[in-house]
Amino acid sequence: MLCVVIKGPTWEEILQQLTAASSYADCVELRLDLFSHIDIVALKQLREAWAMPMIFTLRCRSHGGSYAHSEENRLNEIRQLAALKPTYIDLEYNVLPSFIKEISCSYPEIKIILSYHNFTETPTDLDSLYQEMQHPSAHFYKIAVTANCSLDALHLLIWAKGKEGRVIAVSMGPQGQFGRIIGPILGIPITYASLDDGLATASGQLSAKTLKEQYHFSKLSSLTAIYGLIGDPVDASISDQTHNAFMGSNNLAAVYVKISVKPSQLAEFLLLAKQLPFRGLSVTMPLKESVIPLLDQIDPEAESIGAVNTLFFYGGKIHGYNTDGKGALNAIERTGSIEGKRVVIIGAGGAARAIAYEACRRGASVTIVNRDSEKAHRLANRFSCSSKGLEQMHICTNDGYDLLINTTPVAMPTPSEYILSTAMIMDIKTRPVETALIKCALKKGCSVIYGYQMFVEQAHGQFALWFGNTYSPLIHRENSKHQLQFKRKDAKV
Ligand code: ATR
Repeated sequence: MLCVVIKGPTWEEILQQLTAASSYADCVELRLDLFSHIDIVALKQLREAWAMPMIFTLRCRSHGGSYAHSEENRLNEIRQLAALKPTYIDLEYNVLPSFIKEISCSYPEIKIILSYHNFTETPTDLDSLYQEMQHPSAHFYKIAVTANCSLDALHLLIWAKGKEGRVIAVSMGPQGQFGRIIGPILGIPITYASLDDGLATASGQLSAKTLKEQYHFSKLSSLTAIYGLIGDPVDASISDQTHNAFMGSNNLAAVYVKISVKPSQLAEFLLLAKQLPFRGLSVTMPLKESVIPLLDQIDPEAESIGAVNTLFFYGGKIHGYNTDGKGALNAIERTGSIEGKRVVIIGAGGAARAIAYEACRRGASVTIVNRDSEKAHRLANRFSCSSKGLEQMHICTNDGYDLLINTTPVAMPTPSEYILSTAMIMDIKTRPVETALIKCALKKGCSVIYGYQMFVEQAHGQFALWFGNTYSPLIHRENSKHQLQFKRKDAKV
């Protein structure tokens, strides 16, 4: 159930917000503590006129609310509000049990939500907390806690999914935001949303519009598979927009979320992810190499590359692939064959490895250029190509090249005098669309390949792996999961 939080504060704004919420929400929460004043007569009329289920909440300060008067006054006001018979009343779990019983006995038709808030952490002993909250019992138990990392949100969701839809689990903060999106898949009965971006009442809360339009919230159910991007940082990635748009337009029972995961958290993350309906993950820096020892199976090409950008959860196992190299080369070869062309790759990280591997495989003559020349050398040895330190870039320019690819995060990885106007220039960054390097290349009259072109192609590769026959992009023919030969990591070669 998508619940839009109505915060007022003026009566005019309350009515405007309710009208706007009605096109998105399954129910609304009136945060009465945020209203400039509580007009019982007007609220009564509102209850009578508005069919949508309503949660009344008069939140005290110790639970993050704004109610400014005494606790005695607050409970008296709640008594008056209960007489209006809202669908739900939200009460803090530690108000007097006698008060909770009073409300539930006087108004048995009102469903009581007992709520717990923690603005610093996600407690580890959720079982004890839950037991404590159940005296007296309520319709729902809301546990809104702070996720200091994505693992906190996963722990909370795994714990809550076994609670038969009784627990409204909320991971507050940006690290837990993905948990708000996938909640309904795990039986979390209510997801709170703001009316608009920027009107959130809690950290990490998304707008109803974003949940509905980007994440197709109304279609999420226990049948929806979870996909996502893991890495650190993940904020700048456009994959949540592109992948969800793709999933929506192909009517797939799938959602894609961005999850921040650091290398030190990766092993635990994958163990936890196996306990939830994750089906696929995109992997970005700095995890593309460190994920390899944690996989159950690795595709031989990804193993040769030494980097993985795609995970597929299948049969209780995690399989690793790399679609970066094919993605980059497919984007490049849309303009013509790379065979026999001289390619300079700046950078020697995970992306450079994948591109070098695929470019060599397709018959290009590759030179790796990197600030750490030793690293470039090691990579070049692996794929039998050549290497140079970044300070030797002028040699590449003098020798001539047909294609220059920047795989570093640097806007202008080499001085403009080393950019040949006869060459094609590619930057794998998706943001900004026109990097300094691309701008410089365009000025010189070079043809260019943008990062998003590679992004689209490597995403096609991921979709083909994840969705197989339900989706047939170009890359599918080469990359179908049915055609890939897996090699068990413990098998003798
Ligand atoms: P990815 O997985 O996206 O390839 P990565 O593995 O972190 O990311 O690799 C980034 C590459 O960009 C590395 O080759 C790195 O150079 P080093 O190998 O010398 O570390 C290169 N890089 C990063 N910052 C750079 C900078 N400021 N100047 C030049 N090269 C840089």
